[in-house]
Amino acid sequence: MTDVSLIGLGPMGIALARALRSKYTLTVWNRTAGRAEPLLNQGTVLAPNALAAVQASPVVLVCVADYAASRAILAAPGVADALRGKVLVQLSTGTPQDARDDWAALGGVAYLDGALLATPSQIGRPDTPLFISGEERALAACRPLLEAVAGNIQYMGEPIGNAAAWDLATLSCMFGAMSGFFHGVRICESEGLKVNAFSQMIGAISPVLGEMISAEGEAIHAGSYGEPESSMATCAGSGRLFVKQAREAGLDASFPDFLMALFDRSLNAGLANERLAAMIKVLRQAA
Ligand SMILES: NC(=O)c1ccc[n+]([C@@H]2O[C@H](COP(=O)([O-])OP(=O)(O)OC[C@H]3O[C@@H](n4cnc5c(N)ncnc54)[C@H](OP(=O)(O)O)[C@@H]3O)[C@@H](O)[C@H]2O)c1
Repeated sequence: MTDVSLIGLGPMGIALARALRSKYTLTVWNRTAGRAEPLLNQGTVLAPNALAAVQASPVVLVCVADYAASRAILAAPGVADALRGKVLVQLSTGTPQDARDDWAALGGVAYLDGALLATPSQIGRPDTPLFISGEERALAACRPLLEAVAGNIQYMGEPIGNAAAWDLATLSCMFGAMSGFFHGVRICESEGLKVNAFSQMIGAISPVLGEMISAEGEAIHAGSYGEPESSMATCAGSGRLFVKQAREAGLDASFPDFLMALFDRSLNAGLANERLAAMIKVLRQAA
């Protein structure tokens, strides 16, 4: 027996294995066994199949490409039965519905759904965030072990889909900001400005940008969109400048066009004198 078993040795799985084995005895299994090679000369056990990996430890972590891959692995004969009495931590990325389906398919297994807000090189740090949902009792049983991979555990409650919902909402924020950042890079490039000076400046002012996001979130929570410091019409004016500058400099305008389409819908909905957060009213309209 080992302390923990890990199924999946992609870049994230390998990082998890490295963080875990410094404190815990570890069994691993991966569809392509060769990926375990760098781990084996340091005391990690390679199981011959997924069932043997599940049988080897009281806590089982799964981190594969998606829930379909995980489902194929956990549906192998005997695996679901072997999971009873153990804690399964699903760390593959998916939707809230994926988590609910997975949990239902494994009915009776102590199941936690987790989302790592990190790249593989950030695993093992005390500040690395891990969103977790599911039974609190199951989390208590393996919390120190999970803290070895991500020290900043955010428990999102019992509903199993919560961690995936928080994860996708956070990723939406990140990739949305990144898309805007990349268009910002093109603006800098079109004017011969240094890209890394721009990215460093964004990093430095990110707390101020975070404050702005928090303020819009509070407004949506309160349903209060009036008396804006900066109205939708003012913000849409900046959107129009992105479009104009892209045309003037011959840049790809997909980001400005996407943003301006949202502003136009908001203005057409009569939100010109409301704050930016009022855009949520447009997004709430059924597609
Ligand atoms: N990398 C990141 O920055 C990051 C960050 C947060 C979360 N995640 C999540 O972590 C999970 C793993 O990501 P990753 O970066 O390690 O790489 P990945 O390419 O998403 O996943 C690779 C792993 O999935 C396995 N796999 C894929 N299809 C399979 C199938 N049909 N049956 C069995 N195993 C299968 C691979 O096995 P083989 O080796 O045999 O191909 C390998 O173990 C993903 O859900 C990802 O979204 C990743």
